[in-house]
Amino acid sequence: MKPRCCCADFPDRKPHYVPLSASGSGGIEASVLNSLESGDEAICCVNGLFSQRMHVIAQHTPATLHLVEAPYGRPVDPEDVRKVAKGRKIKMIGLAQGETSSGVVTNIDPFRQVADECGALLVGGRGGYPGWGAPEY
Ligand SMILES: Cc1ncc(COP(=O)(O)O)c(C=O)c1O
Repeated sequence: MKPRCCCADFPDRKPHYVPLSASGSGGIEASVLNSLESGDEAICCVNGLFSQRMHVIAQHTPATLHLVEAPYGRPVDPEDVRKVAKGRKIKMIGLAQGETSSGVVTNIDPFRQVADECGALLVGGRGGYPGWGAPEY
């Protein structure tokens, strides 16, 4: 199945919105817990508190997790993600596009590309809003 995009950042794709009466963490929980099941493999990109939260939530699923980290205040390198995904059937790649804990905004395009290459869902937590002025890597 072609990965669906739920984000208005990609105007060339038909958006699909699901309103949730929940906090941001509740949204992450709903996305991750409903995506991963036994036998799945996922990559969690961690570069701060909120992406770490996504990793902790993913640990509550039976999926096999691969952790790709960057130091606090830096974005995860999409090449590191590509290397980990190589030769594996990755179901989900998770990251915090806007890592609210450090203010780092990650350029999501290369992660979208890696996710498309391996047919994975891209789950991105986004604190703040597009153009909030933080440096984008
Ligand atoms: C990037 C980001 N910022 C902030 C939050 C915190 O949201 P909330 O306090 O509504 O749970 C989250 C939730 O996981 C997040 O992913």
